[in-house]
Amino acid sequence: MKVTVVGAGNVGATCAYAIAEKEIVNEVILLDIKEGLAEGKALDMWQTAPVRLYDTRLKGVSNDYEASAGSEVIVITSGIPRKPGMSRDDLISINAGIVQSVTESIVRYSPDAKIIVVSNPLDAMCYRAYLTAGLPSCRVFGMAGILDTARYIAFLADELEISPRDIQAMLLGGHGDTMVPLPRYTTVSGIPVSELINENRLNEIIDRTRGGGGEIVGLMGTSAWYAPGNAAAQMVEAIIKDQRRVVPVCAYLNGEYGMSDIYLGVPVILGKNGVEKIIELKLNVSEQALLARSAAAVRSTLDVIVP
Ligand code: NAI
Ligand code: 2OP
Repeated sequence: MKVTVVGAGNVGATCAYAIAEKEIVNEVILLDIKEGLAEGKALDMWQTAPVRLYDTRLKGVSNDYEASAGSEVIVITSGIPRKPGMSRDDLISINAGIVQSVTESIVRYSPDAKIIVVSNPLDAMCYRAYLTAGLPSCRVFGMAGILDTARYIAFLADELEISPRDIQAMLLGGHGDTMVPLPRYTTVSGIPVSELINENRLNEIIDRTRGGGGEIVGLMGTSAWYAPGNAAAQMVEAIIKDQRRVVPVCAYLNGEYGMSDIYLGVPVILGKNGVEKIIELKLNVSEQALLARSAAAVRSTLDVIVP
């Protein structure tokens, strides 16, 4: 079984490496437009196999989509990342062109693949890939919610001085500053988080989560890759192993949450067919308002995709 990761930059290479270490497929193809980059990184990762002890073969290629033929899952990470002072939306026109051309090529060689989009602005890039691919929406979706939830959980674990393993959380909305972490659906080994952290402090943590991507851009001058790459690899694993995991995914809404024709972060069951089911939470009035605000922010970016 084969998985292809398009874009051998920070996120793509991290994702390919995480997939290889999981030993869930025989082969990982890493593809980039820049000559030699994917070949070099894949070779380095294959030479890591005797040290880390995995069997997954890794092959790097420059723009050779034939090598990706028959992939079960394709992860699209190609595109430019944020620099300080840029929002994810500033990337839209360049990355829309890249995502469109990459999607055309991958679908030609892997018509049965599930496509996981990572390139930003995420919700709009999912929509671009969906329009281009011509596949059922359950097979085209995006990674953001697992990352954003991981950030939220990491901040909560710091605050409570506990293991992140014991925190469960859910988050909705677009992958931007309007994302909607849900304290009502956040527990620590079954204990509602509101019993452990007061409302003001929880709101500060939620604000930090919303700006979590920007915090890292401010520190490093480019965006994160360890958590994003590993989050995308977790989605690949859920599909390949048909785990039917319940995770936040950027999925196409067709009436769910009262919205249609939009990609937005929602809880889904993720399995061998991709998005097996969208789970509709019973939101209260203020959660509904926050989700509507986030959806409006996502819609405002879609004009570039569908003028
Ligand atoms: P990067 O600059 O390290 O890597 C991007 C790679 O894409 C480069 O190697 C470049 O040569 C390649 N590329 C560009 N055009 C291509 C094409 N037409 N075909 C094949 N490869 C092409 O950037 P990084 O940090 O890996 O980020 C990648 C994207 O992922 C960015 O758009 C970034 O904003 C996004 N991102 C999304 C996250 C999410 O949660 N959804 C989290 C982190 C990053
Ligand atoms: C992140 O959240 C920039 O989307 C990227 O790290």
